[in-house]
Amino acid sequence: MTYNKEDKILIIGAGGQIGIELTQELSLLYGSSNVIAADLKPIPALDNNPFETLDILDKDALFNVVKKHSISHVYLLAALLSATGEQNPMFAWKLNMEGLFNVLDLAKEKHISKVYWPSSIAVFGPTTPRIDTPQYTVMEPSTVYGISKQAGERWCEWYFHKFGVDVRSLRYPGLIGWKSAPGGGTTDYAVHIFHQALKTKTYECFLSENTALPMMHMEDAIRATIEIMHAPAENIKIRGAYNLAGISFTPAQIAAEIQKHIPDFTISYKPDFRQAIANSWPQSILDHEAKNDWNWSAKYNLSSLVANMLQNLA
Ligand code: NAD
Ligand code: SER
Repeated sequence: MTYNKEDKILIIGAGGQIGIELTQELSLLYGSSNVIAADLKPIPALDNNPFETLDILDKDALFNVVKKHSISHVYLLAALLSATGEQNPMFAWKLNMEGLFNVLDLAKEKHISKVYWPSSIAVFGPTTPRIDTPQYTVMEPSTVYGISKQAGERWCEWYFHKFGVDVRSLRYPGLIGWKSAPGGGTTDYAVHIFHQALKTKTYECFLSENTALPMMHMEDAIRATIEIMHAPAENIKIRGAYNLAGISFTPAQIAAEIQKHIPDFTISYKPDFRQAIANSWPQSILDHEAKNDWNWSAKYNLSSLVANMLQNLA
């Protein structure tokens, strides 16, 4: 892994599920004072890091923060996710696209040298082959969130080819971590289920029992993010976004694994509008390109993920 301790990092959306853990991990590498957290409101969990109140839609404010802290790398995490995006489609499009343009333009104008922006399995759609979905395949996303992520990937690649912007991206599966509350995604049942299992020993799932989706422990996702950002530029052959595979499971399978630790845990199923979103996504994905180009490999399987979540949340 190559990195320069002089780099100054700005994490936008640092108070979210990914942001808190990514800020903490990057702080171990660069030092807390070199990792600036930005979000709409202060983040108590990150009180060792400098903080900026920032709305990513305010391009001038973003520019001022970048100059004030001599920022070199930006991680842009602010977005509306799949479920909240469907409920507020025009705002989801605005936030997810304009926020990305504001950051890519700063890199195009050489105010920053590297950008990380996450994509998602939501770039795939109902016409995509759903099992072992490869990097290159049919992509017709049917959610506003997925459309914004697919468009974002194309724009990232365009800024790379046209202006040499060093932008890197991953198509995260559903992410499961214990350090923060989930933020409005369809895969978030797999986070809520742990909180309910420990609190009430029962969970009503908004997806049906056999809905398989690609998932990943947050620790693996943070490591992948740091690894792709620190890989030599020539290894990054995909400037849209890389498929990233962890584990695939259904609500019934994760419930059965939880029952190994909490035998009287019960689950019931009441699918809502998020079922249609889940049905449009892959059940499992392949990530050969990430493995080949920058040596990616996930560590957690379902049983170690469940044991880790229950242990930490308890
Ligand atoms: P989250 O909703 O938990 O966090 C997003 C953060 O952005 C929040 O703290 C929010 O306050 C902040 N934010 C929202 N609007 C903002 C604005 N205008 N200006 C500044 N900050 C703003 O989301 P997350 O789960 O941490 O996801 C982060 C990124 O990763 C998103 O782009 C998401 O699409 C992507 N992603 C997440 C998952 C997942 O499973 N969590 C999977 C695939 C991709
Ligand atoms: N986990 C995300 C969601 O469900 C996928 O990007 O919205």
